Amino acid sequence: MPRKTDNGRRPIRLASVVGARPQFIKAAAISRAVERHNASPKNQMIEDILIHTGQHYDNALSGVFFEELRLPVPRFNLGVGSGPQGLQTARMLMRLETVLRRDPPDAVLVHGDTNSTLAGALAAAKLGLPLAHAEAGLRSRNKTMPEEINRILADRLSDWLFCPTTAAVRNLAGEGLRKNVRLVGDVMYDVFLTHRKEAKGRSRILKTLDLQPRRYALATVHRQENTDDPAKLADIILSLGRVAQGRFPVVFPLHPRTRRAMRGIASSVWASPGLLLVDPLPYFDMLALLDGARLVLTDSGGLQKEAAFAGVPCVTLRRETEWTETVRAGRNRLAGTAPARVAAAVSRALRDGRLPPLRLYGRGDAADRIVRILAREIGAH
Ligand code: UD1
Repeated sequence: MPRKTDNGRRPIRLASVVGARPQFIKAAAISRAVERHNASPKNQMIEDILIHTGQHYDNALSGVFFEELRLPVPRFNLGVGSGPQGLQTARMLMRLETVLRRDPPDAVLVHGDTNSTLAGALAAAKLGLPLAHAEAGLRSRNKTMPEEINRILADRLSDWLFCPTTAAVRNLAGEGLRKNVRLVGDVMYDVFLTHRKEAKGRSRILKTLDLQPRRYALATVHRQENTDDPAKLADIILSLGRVAQGRFPVVFPLHPRTRRAMRGIASSVWASPGLLLVDPLPYFDMLALLDGARLVLTDSGGLQKEAAFAGVPCVTLRRETEWTETVRAGRNRLAGTAPARVAAAVSRALRDGRLPPLRLYGRGDAADRIVRILAREIGAH
């Protein structure tokens, strides 16, 4: 329990709503920053209240991140589990309203673009609670993605818009959102910088999979637009198999949805010798694999950006991205899913080789800035 400050002021109660894998990583950055803030006796204490919606519930997608990143035990776990978009979001909203109403925090913080983000934002806004959005301002301009809808709405409702990049600030300005927009850097970059070395030292994944640094590729696929379309998914797997046969092994950690969707695809497509299908990996193993990879192929938002942090060339298996600066800087190629286009993008990316890390995501202190701003302004809000 947080102590009272010397001046007797009660702690600021900050509730973070999380639910999916990337949000546990982002929340870890905030929790560390809150600890640093609370370590100074002159600061008004912050009570770090974690609310887990239960969107991700497997140990591989949730529990392991809490252990590795030493996240506080969630005060509430709403246990919503999976389901269609509307049902999942509605369940979260109902349960969030109950816990937020019972014991209202001073502010609610949501991260990124998942259904948990949208539900957290809606619940807070409807209850009149001050709302902050970390990773605000990203846009893919593709409204068929649930994530794009979630981000637009969370930004509209938020009282603080914490942007990771100048491109995000520009996107918000283009939509008329200028007030309370703060360029703070990217909290995932904070976590990457903090744990990169530790991950290299602790992870045994390269040994376990018998991989040599710079002689394998790392792939992830979980976007609904790719997994729910069997023809697209088959094209992607075919492309990964070709990289694996022609060049070097491709490590492919399977999101549960992707694993299920692959059951509908002939095994002749994915049973390629160099295609290493593995379970979802903990964060440190992913970091270690990323650091040693020659190439990343992905439809994930987070991994495109992490590849840029690490200086690993990336081929994105989508037609657009919210991390446009990675493309502009020549680090990321938007290939879509057609095998010929993916193959061409892979060849070009391999010609680029290793690149210097892209330094467009702040100084590794985004979470500290967020916490500092919230601590200063919550009382005044
Ligand atoms: C969500 C986010 C996405 C984020 C991703 C990170 C939305 C709309 N999307 O997608 O922005 O990049 O998380 O992983 O919120 N499942 C399990 N075990 C689990 C969790 C999920 O088996 O622990 C299965 C569910 O049955 C579900 C499928 O995976 O059918 C997808 O889960 P879902 O919660 O819809 O979101 P993600 O696709 O993971």
